[in-house]
Amino acid sequence: MFMRVLNKWIQKEPSKNAITILKDRYFLKDGEGNYLESTWDEVAKRIARHVAAAEVNYTNDVEEIKNAEEHFYQLIKSRIFLPNSPTIFNAGKTMDRQLFKKDIEETTLEDYKTIFDSRTKHNMLSACFVIPMDDSMNAIFDAVKNAALIMKYGGGVGYDFSVLRPKGSSIAGTGGKSSGPISFMHVFNTAASTIEQGGARRAAQMAVLRYDHPDVFDFINSKKDNKGNNVLNYFNISVNIDNPKEFKKMLEEDGDLTLEHPASSIRKTIKANDLMNKMVENAWKTGDPGMLFLGRHNQYYAMSEHTPVTATNPCGEEPLPPFGSCNLGSIDVAKLVEDMDLGNPNSDDISEFQEIIYWAVRFLDDVIESNIYPLKEIEEISKKQRFIGLGMMGLADALYIKELPYNSEQARKFMAKLTAELAYFSHIASTELAKERGNFQDFQRSKYPDGFIPFPMLDDEIDEDIKAWNEKIRQHFQGEATKYKRNVQTNTIAPTGSISNLADTSSGIEPNFLLSYVRYMTNKEGDRVPLSYINPILMEKIGTNMTEELKAEIIEKGSIQNIDSIPNEIKKIFVTSMDIPPKDHLLAQHVIQSYLDASCSKTINMPKSSTIEDVKAIYLQALELNLKGLTIYRDGSLETQVLTSASKE
Ligand code: CDP
Repeated sequence: MFMRVLNKWIQKEPSKNAITILKDRYFLKDGEGNYLESTWDEVAKRIARHVAAAEVNYTNDVEEIKNAEEHFYQLIKSRIFLPNSPTIFNAGKTMDRQLFKKDIEETTLEDYKTIFDSRTKHNMLSACFVIPMDDSMNAIFDAVKNAALIMKYGGGVGYDFSVLRPKGSSIAGTGGKSSGPISFMHVFNTAASTIEQGGARRAAQMAVLRYDHPDVFDFINSKKDNKGNNVLNYFNISVNIDNPKEFKKMLEEDGDLTLEHPASSIRKTIKANDLMNKMVENAWKTGDPGMLFLGRHNQYYAMSEHTPVTATNPCGEEPLPPFGSCNLGSIDVAKLVEDMDLGNPNSDDISEFQEIIYWAVRFLDDVIESNIYPLKEIEEISKKQRFIGLGMMGLADALYIKELPYNSEQARKFMAKLTAELAYFSHIASTELAKERGNFQDFQRSKYPDGFIPFPMLDDEIDEDIKAWNEKIRQHFQGEATKYKRNVQTNTIAPTGSISNLADTSSGIEPNFLLSYVRYMTNKEGDRVPLSYINPILMEKIGTNMTEELKAEIIEKGSIQNIDSIPNEIKKIFVTSMDIPPKDHLLAQHVIQSYLDASCSKTINMPKSSTIEDVKAIYLQALELNLKGLTIYRDGSLETQVLTSASKE
């Protein structure tokens, strides 16, 4: 209807693998477990109608609402844009099915109003939350309850445990001693273990602790018990180093670091290098802890002077203030690159990409209204600041199509330009919406009226196109954005762990982990269902040379780098996570993060043979680059790996 590429994708049905996932997790069911839906079309219509109904807040013109619904529907049906899982699970849930079965022509303003007014607690649509706690029993157990509710409806929760006094500190009221933040993390973990998010998947949480908290070593070691067993399985953990440059200096000078807490008399002096070495050693062993640089997050957050961010969501891409929430959505760039010259500031296709982004931003802004929030505090800040996280998926597949090796300078320039374009048009869209709907409530107190740019940007010198995007961005933030902004932040790149499977594309901004694999999904009946996959772009590239024998070899190895019969030009392009040197993962994160006001989910994959020193080198480089955080994973260091090539099973 409104775009050339949509017509191409709207007819394409999801793959067999995608349908298996839809059936297991996303199709609505009645109270007895009977399916109420059986096609992707029904799901797309349900989401589009539920979210468009929020526009009754802005207009009485039913045609305008229908127009929004139609655009949302087309974006979702084509899988060019997908919202985060809770929106797919929970939009329209428990509502009158007849309202969603009506043809759009027959849908009335009253129908939209009925949908909007009949929302219940089951219609929680956001993926990301941060819940605060105080250093008191009451507050901690309130936080457990609040988090449990959020997780039940499909959201992930992050917490800053730094506020809790260290183990062994005195407790005035009882004369006893505090058991410390790690013991409380176990309470949250147990609560999470009893919850299936949205009735469909494991709960996920993030625990953050400051690097100078006296229990920081226990925290770093917290994911193993005394016997070496894995514990706290429902947590990712990150050490917050507010000022990475200062910490790096401390390491270089082999300086001392004082561990202390305002509510405790406990003080310890340690070598900064001992802390670094412990983090690196554990990350080498298990991938945890990650590093988080909240100071940098706050530097680029327009409300940091009033409500600084204190933690991130479970996968690390969304920093939030206490009681903050964010809903995410991702554009599949692999579906667009064949037909659009993405990233080029002078392209003729710009208006089409801009239009996709406008409707995606409008959708996410509508989600803020159509969402039911688990707590009134969350509703309040979410509506005052209006965080949304539009990101992308399918980057690795897009690079295969464009024949750019992920680990090349050329690819990095493309990544930077593409993210700059995404950021620029998302912010333009947010400004357009503000003109119609009003600024986010806290706008005047924010940094935007002063011409603030919410991300660092790359050097103008790197490339002419990058310079052109930088100029457009500067112009926007020094011009219209000083007056109009609907959303405090607009861009986040999620892992898209589930939705990229629904879209049949590569996840987020990650390289493909394997070119072919067998993935086992445990369904509701407890049976393991194999989902086998071979990258379709590679299949097409190899064409008629793809013999059964070669296919079997690719499935066996997961990567093509050691297959003699495949030409080198193809090997160079079709790289996997493990084929790419860690520093190139880091550089990809760096260029992409340079244009994101929130952050991105990115793992720095390292080969199994990497030493502790190799991990340390990456950690040190991350302190130097303008990153907002770091997660590494050394191949084989966790016993449970979700994906396996046939040879590693
Ligand atoms: O693909 P999908 O929308 O399901 O999720 P994702 O992009 O992999 O993850 C986005 C965010 O959803 C995470 O950072 C968490 O906040 C949340 N999430 C969760 O709470 N529980 C999970 N099992 C997976 C994701």
